[in-house]
Amino acid sequence: MSQQHDRRSRDGSNPLEQALAARSSRLPGFYRLSVSQRRAILASWGGLDAEEAAQFDGGLTMERADAMIENVVGAFSLPVGVATNFLVDGRDVLVPMAVEEPSVVAAASHGALLARHGGGFRTEVDEPVMIGQIQVVGLAATEMDAACARLRAVEADILAVAQAQSASLPRLGGGARGLELRPILDSPAGPMLLVHLLYDTRDAMGANAVNTAAEAIAPVIEAATGGRVLMRILSNLADRRIARASCRVPAALLAKGDFQGRDVAERIAAANALAVVDPYRAATHNKGIMNGIDPVVIATGNDWRSVEAGAHAYAARDGSYRALTDWRVDEASGDLLGRIALPLALGIVGGSSRSHALAAACLKLLSPASARELAGVVASVGLAQNLSALRALVSEGIQSGHMALHARQLALAAGASAEAAHRIAEQMVREGAVRSARAAELVAAQG
Ligand code: MEV
Repeated sequence: MSQQHDRRSRDGSNPLEQALAARSSRLPGFYRLSVSQRRAILASWGGLDAEEAAQFDGGLTMERADAMIENVVGAFSLPVGVATNFLVDGRDVLVPMAVEEPSVVAAASHGALLARHGGGFRTEVDEPVMIGQIQVVGLAATEMDAACARLRAVEADILAVAQAQSASLPRLGGGARGLELRPILDSPAGPMLLVHLLYDTRDAMGANAVNTAAEAIAPVIEAATGGRVLMRILSNLADRRIARASCRVPAALLAKGDFQGRDVAERIAAANALAVVDPYRAATHNKGIMNGIDPVVIATGNDWRSVEAGAHAYAARDGSYRALTDWRVDEASGDLLGRIALPLALGIVGGSSRSHALAAACLKLLSPASARELAGVVASVGLAQNLSALRALVSEGIQSGHMALHARQLALAAGASAEAAHRIAEQMVREGAVRSARAAELVAAQG
């Protein structure tokens, strides 16, 4: 570690070294280090060997990329940052985030620090049960009750067929859990019967397992109902697989400028209330939450389109599109209490979580014991992200913090070294001149 970053306290110890020794995710000064210094810390923190640490250069060979999708011509890179300060169910975690938007990693880390002072995040995650939908057509509305009764009579056989499609999941305690029958008496295409196969995918996201099982049980469903099966595909509204996270932020920590902590807590609760009742605000509010969630989903090789689809469908589950979070003030203490709930269909086995070497390294850094544990961390990141955004929005606004980061990017783009970029950015913000021309002047003046 360079002298400049080796900030020792009076007793001669280095807070960063202390944090590393204690395996704390609170890493003071981490943001001031160079990329290679941060990577060295990450490797030691996460027990990554040299090969795993090297994957942070991109982690995707052309050969591997060519095997992943069709007509490959290259690979698209995103910066991967690490959010610090996360304490989730008493466990310190460093959170890898793949994202292009400035401020996101800093905001997640800041939100996590606020929550950390209140004991960190607590999570509760459902069993990993996915829904496979089988659409049966060709039945009259008057035939629905009889079709449902016949399906119930052979439900055990149907579940056995579903169960037989995977060798591994039933062995691991997963597999078919039950059927839900949903007659739809009217649709633009007439009546139809929807059969939901509930299927526990354990540590996998599970799309392949669910789709295979849904296709396999279709003929049995046709035979039992006398109808014709059309669609056989999982639902991304994975509402059997909800991840919940909550936190408490001590009021005193929220004080900002002229605002008392309790004022800020009340303003955050009022801002959240707007996103509960107004879809225009809810869309932006939830986008901010997904600013935290998507980067972790991407970094761990998971399907972020499925997570996005599930989150927004869940946000609209009662017919109005609403906030995924709830923030309120604890009357007695003035502390801020936050909660989030959303479907998170994530895997830690299969898919690109293992075939993409960088995703595998990110998973190793997080080392979740299960897909449910990963979902708890991801929900916590969403809550932290939202906390930071709301806190800034109800006080000084988000632009000042954003401008500081933007200034740094301009300085880097103008050719400043990482170290000089900090200084140049600070100067541009002080001058109120965050512009590429000014960045170029300041870089040139450095010689
Ligand atoms: C910007 O990417 C995200 C925010 O708009 C979220 C929010 O408004 O809550 C700042």
